[in-house]
Amino acid sequence: MRAIVLEKFGGLDSLVYADIPEPEPLEGHVVIEIKAFGINHAEMHMRRGEWAEAARVSGIECVGIVKSCPGGEFPVGAKVAALMGGLGRTINGSYAEYTRAPVSNVALIESDLSWAELAAIPETYATAWTCLFRNLELAEGQTVVIRGATSSFGQAAVKLAVNAGAKVIATTRSPARFAMLEAIGASRVEAEGADLSKRIADAKQIDAVLDLVGNSTILDSLAMLRRGGRACLAGWLGGLAPIADFNPLLQMSSGVSLTFFGSFVFGTPGFPLSDVPLQAIAADVAAGRLDAKPWRIFQFDEIREAHRVMEANEAGGKMVVVH
Ligand SMILES: NC(=O)c1ccc[n+]([C@@H]2O[C@H](COP(=O)([O-])OP(=O)(O)OC[C@H]3O[C@@H](n4cnc5c(N)ncnc54)[C@H](OP(=O)(O)O)[C@@H]3O)[C@@H](O)[C@H]2O)c1
Repeated sequence: MRAIVLEKFGGLDSLVYADIPEPEPLEGHVVIEIKAFGINHAEMHMRRGEWAEAARVSGIECVGIVKSCPGGEFPVGAKVAALMGGLGRTINGSYAEYTRAPVSNVALIESDLSWAELAAIPETYATAWTCLFRNLELAEGQTVVIRGATSSFGQAAVKLAVNAGAKVIATTRSPARFAMLEAIGASRVEAEGADLSKRIADAKQIDAVLDLVGNSTILDSLAMLRRGGRACLAGWLGGLAPIADFNPLLQMSSGVSLTFFGSFVFGTPGFPLSDVPLQAIAADVAAGRLDAKPWRIFQFDEIREAHRVMEANEAGGKMVVVH
């Protein structure tokens, strides 16, 4: 089968097309004929050798058709999504014609949406949904600040939060992107910056913060919460450097909670994929209640261009690759 392999750690030329053997059927696993897959920041970090693990074939998610499933957990021919479960990290991932995912990380996703539209959903929406409605327990009428909201993860979170009846304050560093965030439902947009908690009018009244800028802003996010408010750290757009000299005694507000989510736990006993309403999200997209359209669709032979756009920070939303 055709696959994109990681020949070495480094730049765009590390991604090389090769013929490798198709995955064989294996108990507890699903072999999937990949129709499309989303592009993720994690794959850029893996390509550069910045992540703890990187498989020869990258790609942490896909949508496609079940080719084999020896345990019978999924019918052959069914439409499915697969994400995480070691894909692209410890086992070969989705940058290929076929992949083999653990059954714990596969979900039925019956829908008439195009493969490109379906591919925009799994990792981004599963993660955004879990952060908002599990870690942050966001409820109707609450106010959530979403930092790094122009990212594809951020945009998905804005849309899900607005659909759930929350008031969203979104952040971007780019004044040119304020209008886009308002158009997808943010009630207000703030300029992203490390001092946001000192500028924001509703400081100490915020119910929740979803922080995708990361370690460099999370303490500032905690500082804008009301008593009982929560901040969820789930992205690292501002870089992977650790929080320097974190001293809660001096730097943390009383009565607030810090929570973390990493989608690598999907499919483990505490975080079954069945917890996430992927099928309902796809139905909302199909019915026009949720706009999850990919920002740009690439062909399989355009992987370097997709990574270039991601690395250059030119992406305006979720990017997907179709076969
Ligand atoms: N926790 C998890 O399980 C999980 C799952 C998926 C993704 N993630 C993480 O979530 C983040 C978003 O991923 P994505 O694939 O959605 O990203 P993306 O679409 O490629 O994000 C692009 C956006 O990043 C913003 N950005 C870039 N550099 C920034 C900086 N230094 N400070 C603030 N904003 C910056 C830009 O916003 P502006 O120019 O508009 O400011 C740009 O619109 C990544 O860090 C990714 O690793 C985490």
